[in-house]
Amino acid sequence: MRISVLGCGYLGAVHAAALASLGHDVLGVDVDAARVNALADGRPPFFEPGLGELLQRAVRSGRLRFTTTPADDGLADAELHFITVGTPQSDDGSADLSAVESALDTILAAVPVGARPVVAGKSTVPVGTAKRLAERLAASGATLVWNPEFLREGRAVEDTLHPDRIVYGLPDDPAQARRGREALDAAYAPLLAEGIPRIATNYPTAELVKMAANSFLATKISFINAMAELCEATGGDVVALADVLGYDDRIGRKFLRAGVGFGGGCLPKDIRAFVARAEELGVGDALTFLKQVDAINQRRRDRVVALAERWLGGDVAGARVTVLGAAFKPDSDDVRDSPALDVALRLADRGALVRVCDPRALDVVERLHPGLDTRRDPLAALEGAEVVLLLTEWQEFIDLDPAEAAGQVARPVVIDGRNALDPGRWREAGWTHLGLGRPPSG
Ligand code: UGA
Repeated sequence: MRISVLGCGYLGAVHAAALASLGHDVLGVDVDAARVNALADGRPPFFEPGLGELLQRAVRSGRLRFTTTPADDGLADAELHFITVGTPQSDDGSADLSAVESALDTILAAVPVGARPVVAGKSTVPVGTAKRLAERLAASGATLVWNPEFLREGRAVEDTLHPDRIVYGLPDDPAQARRGREALDAAYAPLLAEGIPRIATNYPTAELVKMAANSFLATKISFINAMAELCEATGGDVVALADVLGYDDRIGRKFLRAGVGFGGGCLPKDIRAFVARAEELGVGDALTFLKQVDAINQRRRDRVVALAERWLGGDVAGARVTVLGAAFKPDSDDVRDSPALDVALRLADRGALVRVCDPRALDVVERLHPGLDTRRDPLAALEGAEVVLLLTEWQEFIDLDPAEAAGQVARPVVIDGRNALDPGRWREAGWTHLGLGRPPSG
């Protein structure tokens, strides 16, 4: 099948490479020439495990090409166009859909009259967007389907090639719906043959499913972080509490890791955009709780800053602080709304001498915040620290030898903002280990 993928960020780059690996002839489109050149060379413009190999194989096979000038490079030949552009947060919290609109314009401008391609939206959009875009496409004879994506950064290749489920949001018109379903069935044929569940529904359900999934995940994290607040007030241990909850398979242990909270390019912006959309629709009350989810999440960052301040005697000015982690989660170099980087910057703003260490994200950090002191080697980063904050649970940090680490610092105090370290091991090596929502030790 000839397929185009408009937007080559995390979602689009992985989707394009995955579709090519399934045997399709894929054209990846992006406005960023540097990104397109890197991808065309088989080099991912961001760190994503497994993507380099997948890209290189697909590019070498000739089934995957990238362009900034799609009209000249065969966009019109594609039978199926995926829209995978970003929908960042606007100032008022709503989603900025300008990239989605311009991707649609690109398709409309290139598609010849009578070609009747299928356009599949994958970007995360406010409910109601698909209906509006379908109206714009109607005159061209194209069919719009909504096909949300659930991949996680750091697991994007695995999630794309082995998804839990595939969702089709189809138009109400039966003939159009059939065309849309057939196009997606052809694109995903090898995955469907493995028995991956396929749920066909209407546009609003497909749009809402994505928002509901991310809201539920964010709520789960904030729920356990709210319990961490209660544990902090009472001497309880949120890790033991989460373990006990997790044995109930109606609840499950996943996404109950208490700590500095969620960040990244999706969960924070998606819950705010969902609230903004619900308010527009006059059903804001239904999602008031998501404002609390957001507030609990922000309070965790405040708590970590306050803990650091307390252990530095109330004033951080001039104190040496080492922050282990900058990416919003391990196995990613993405620092968008990263709790780790946020806390590091807040401490630096208060005058602390902050040193940041991250195995993958420092190039981005140095570009965005040239004033921050950065170190690639964790042991070198620890040198002279009066307090250490573990804020992204990279395996490199978890594997640190606490005795060796203690030899580097000025004072062995670690704030374990991800509850990722073994408190017993660190305490034995002389550390004061401060977990979040855990009784103090050391
Ligand atoms: C999230 C969803 O998990 C994906 O299903 C979705 O497709 C994606 O957003 C998206 O909308 O594109 P992602 O942002 O890559 O994926 O990362 P997550 O693994 O969900 O982690 C988000 C944040 O929550 C991270 O900062 C992580 O450290 C934090 N987190 C996660 C916790 O604090 N506790 C947990 O128990 C789990």
